[in-house]
Amino acid sequence: MTHAAGESRYPLGLMAEQSHRRRSFSSWLISCLGGGGGGGGGGGGGEYNESSSDSGQRVSWDLDPLSLEDLSLTLAGSNLVAFTIAELKTATRNFTMTNLLGSGGFGHVYKGFVDERIRPGIRPQQVAVKSLDLDGQQGHREWLAEVVYLGQLRHPHLVKLIGYCCEDEHRMLVYEYMPRGSLENQLFKRLLASLPWSTRLKIAVGAAKGLAFLHEAEKPVIYRDFKASNILLDEDYTVKLSDFGLAKDGPQGDRTHVSTRVMGTHGYAAPEYILTGHLTAKSDVYSFGVVLLELLAGRRCVDKNRPNRQKNLVDWARPYLNSAEKLRRVMDPGLDGLYSVKGAQKAAALAYKCLSPTPKSRPSMKSVVEALEPLVSLNDVPFDSFIYVAPKEEDKAKEKAQLEVVEEKNLHNNRDQRHKQRFPNSVIHSEVTLHKDGKNLFRNSHFRRSKGHSQERGA
Ligand SMILES: Nc1ncnc2c1ncn2[C@@H]1O[C@H](COP(=O)(O)OP(=O)(O)OP(=O)(O)O)[C@@H](O)[C@H]1O
Ligand SMILES: [Mg+2]
Repeated sequence: MTHAAGESRYPLGLMAEQSHRRRSFSSWLISCLGGGGGGGGGGGGGEYNESSSDSGQRVSWDLDPLSLEDLSLTLAGSNLVAFTIAELKTATRNFTMTNLLGSGGFGHVYKGFVDERIRPGIRPQQVAVKSLDLDGQQGHREWLAEVVYLGQLRHPHLVKLIGYCCEDEHRMLVYEYMPRGSLENQLFKRLLASLPWSTRLKIAVGAAKGLAFLHEAEKPVIYRDFKASNILLDEDYTVKLSDFGLAKDGPQGDRTHVSTRVMGTHGYAAPEYILTGHLTAKSDVYSFGVVLLELLAGRRCVDKNRPNRQKNLVDWARPYLNSAEKLRRVMDPGLDGLYSVKGAQKAAALAYKCLSPTPKSRPSMKSVVEALEPLVSLNDVPFDSFIYVAPKEEDKAKEKAQLEVVEEKNLHNNRDQRHKQRFPNSVIHSEVTLHKDGKNLFRNSHFRRSKGHSQERGA
């Protein structure tokens, strides 16, 4: 399981489902499945059942009249491939455990490969196959919502759904394979080095763009399950949002919100949504604020292993976010001070707004993108500032004396400087090796890392 302690997804409150809501979502799905006159044979309608018992939070769809053909017909224009279970067995080497990428509330996710031998005409590619665990927390409804939403939505920051499998009781989803896995893995489970600042910003911007796209769509969509484990990462750390099992249509007409049973993940769901079940796009903005804070702090939003006061990241960090001085307490020590101080302050102030208890005070995702994008080009990052200006050829004799260090103004972030102050005789800063690159001479220090190293860390 990839779930962290205290991060259980699914019913977050006792909010009773309101019958009109049940109608609206189920009827929408029915129409998606051809029941609205789209030619789905038997109407494609199913009975939508939601259990509210303590143990059984399974949400199910009575499939009787719904056949694979109905679904294929409905999604005809979406280019989704309807795979058979036999094809996916071949693609994943019979769902071997060595291909297991991870597991969540839906079930296991396996790496696979599809090509002409599996399905004539298909582009050869690596895939991730998510298989519904029939005894798990989620059910056919989540599978269906994922197929319907991702089958219709296309965006560079949404994971591409390649196809699905709906055979007998099997429910599977076939996605493009994301080589860096989830942000949760990259941020909290890396063994070697932590994600660099520039990569964290890139991830924040990409995720914000994905959410903004959903909110600004002609028929706005509320994602409802924005969290680190649902943010997938490409080879170059491009973000793609996954998991639309909880997504919902946004309110339409005069309605300000949709009423739903409270679903989501502890630590990420907006407080007013947990209290009232009223869902708006601003609930997603709150969840975005939580992830932005996780990126700054390198901490999970709920961490039972921390001291009491720090178990809930938002509660603990909120008072520090608008103070330049105090913010340093929040910033991830794993960053080693190698971040733009200005950028961190602006990102923290933005997180603060997103985390406002009043939904109306939260910015729209469009404004979040606009606020975050300029931070990428801020260059007051200590990493870039250790440049020695090389002496001219003719001045070689005076080389030592003329070496000039262009120092970063924010010396408190300069690990080398701090080290020098504390250990004036240490060899670490007295024995620098210099190497030439064009006209400039660079210091070979622990701040200047190899290209391979930087790539591996996503710099
Ligand atoms: N398209 C993909 N490419 C690569 N890895 C993936 C892909 N989709 C999912 N994974 C991996 O599978 C893991 C499990 O994903 P899944 O969405 O099932 O669970 P989760 O997000 O951890 O929990 P939840 O059920 O609450 O969403 C992810 O953390 C990720 O590492
Ligand atoms: Mg997920």
